[in-house]
Amino acid sequence: MHIVHIAAEMAPVAKVGGLADVVTGLGRAFQKENHLVEIVIPKYDCMDYSKISKLTAVEADLDSFFDGCIFKNKVWTGIVEGLPVYFIEPHHPSRLFWRGKIYGENDDFKRFTYFSRAALQFILQTEKRPDIIHCHDWHSAVIAPLYWEIYVPQGLDSARIAFTCHNFEYQGRENPAALTSCGLDPKRMHRADRMQDNFIHNQINLLKGAIIFSNIVTTVSPTYAEEVQSSEGGKGLHLTLMAQNHKVFGILNGIDTDLWNPATDLHIAQQYSTNDIDGKAVNKAALRSVLMLSGTGLDSERPIVGCVTRLVPGKGVHLIRHAIFHTLERGGQFVLLGSSPVDEIQKEFEYLSQQFYQHPHIRLIVKYDETFSHSIYAGSEIFIVPSIFEPCGLTQMIAMRYGAIPVARKTGGLNDSVFDVDDDTIPKQIRNGFTFSGKHEKDLGAALDRAFHYFTHRKEWWQDLVRQAMMVDFSWNSSANRYAELYEKAIARSKARSQ
Ligand code: ADP
Ligand code: GLC
Repeated sequence: MHIVHIAAEMAPVAKVGGLADVVTGLGRAFQKENHLVEIVIPKYDCMDYSKISKLTAVEADLDSFFDGCIFKNKVWTGIVEGLPVYFIEPHHPSRLFWRGKIYGENDDFKRFTYFSRAALQFILQTEKRPDIIHCHDWHSAVIAPLYWEIYVPQGLDSARIAFTCHNFEYQGRENPAALTSCGLDPKRMHRADRMQDNFIHNQINLLKGAIIFSNIVTTVSPTYAEEVQSSEGGKGLHLTLMAQNHKVFGILNGIDTDLWNPATDLHIAQQYSTNDIDGKAVNKAALRSVLMLSGTGLDSERPIVGCVTRLVPGKGVHLIRHAIFHTLERGGQFVLLGSSPVDEIQKEFEYLSQQFYQHPHIRLIVKYDETFSHSIYAGSEIFIVPSIFEPCGLTQMIAMRYGAIPVARKTGGLNDSVFDVDDDTIPKQIRNGFTFSGKHEKDLGAALDRAFHYFTHRKEWWQDLVRQAMMVDFSWNSSANRYAELYEKAIARSKARSQ
């Protein structure tokens, strides 16, 4: 198969969160199976160019339509983690992707609908003719209606559209007139059975458009797929999803187990594996020493509780705050690596971080640092993921791969990947962490207490748990197979129709 992913993020060059990891991880999983996979993302000024090899400009400029004009775009090609990537650089007076950041601009709707139109134009005009165009989140959601409304009528109908929603919080709402810019007819699209927002009736909704116009719609875990088909979880789209549920699927993300592998990871102090988990203690000591936390030697009794996260309310910021103090009370050490797009939260944690500067047991590192995150996964024994909602969540999987036992709230993909050691309804061999359901500090506290108890009083049992967690298969293999089945069915249906 020939698959093209069109997205706003791709790890590690342009990463804000898990979306970037999924684009790269899923792409690489298909490439390993000898499918042709290509990725299209914007050419941001703030990308990590050191992670792109063979970056060269494609010879001819790309012409793309927007705001009634034809704009020129320079398209670049390069290789990222072995995947061929196209980077679209618009010659647009607003310098759309030259803003020092990926998201969070007032004109994000315009920036990403521009990108979507240009990316689609690029892959269809260059005779790439992929079998599957796979779009992600609201940023590339308009591609589905654009494809069927504009390109298919021109005879460019060889592909089928897959759309993955990683988070229903962000839907891409705007006044219908804003659709004109990318070439869609607002009158035609602003209808209840097309793109009209289900809550704010005088607006259109890009996510809704993608759900209606795509051949396959997925979200990133089975539990989240159920949650979004309820009135609370769907954020206004539950009825649309239910009406389309013949093509809506929940597929748990994987992680790239080559990139996240403690046995080969060069970012950590000592490599280790399930056969030799002593290496984990060396990483704990190294983490302490780098962060100047107290406690030396490999055998210290204090567990390190880690957390790597975007600091947004959905991640349970109030519970993370509580965990810092709770860990301290219980005699542990707490290490947070997190940053926030929300000014207030960022400032609060920067303040807290200063308060704990030189504290012997707490370190709050308020920034984004991919390389350092590896040391936290490797050095922590317990890892908290107290999300209020979590479509999938990757940090709990990465933590387990590195033998850090998760304490997680039972929601979305956490519910599909973390299984409580004390839950007798779950087979023993798949239990791998500590879970809780409530949203209050005491709920997290109780789960954390259980983790501390086992860590302190059942040392051998804990080592077995670490091995068990490290052995869980979080690779993309089975999820990629599921995507392959869906792609193949969609392609077969379209062939049958055209015969
Ligand atoms: P989300 O996409 O909602 O942020 P996920 O759990 O799916 O959550 O993915 C988060 C990804 O981003 C993981 O790869 C995690 O290691 C990484 N990450 C989050 N915050 C940071 C940070 N401050 N520094 C480095 N990596 C981070
Ligand atoms: C989103 C979700 C997160 C998920 C990630 C990758 O950022 O919030 O739960 O893991 O996408 O699908």
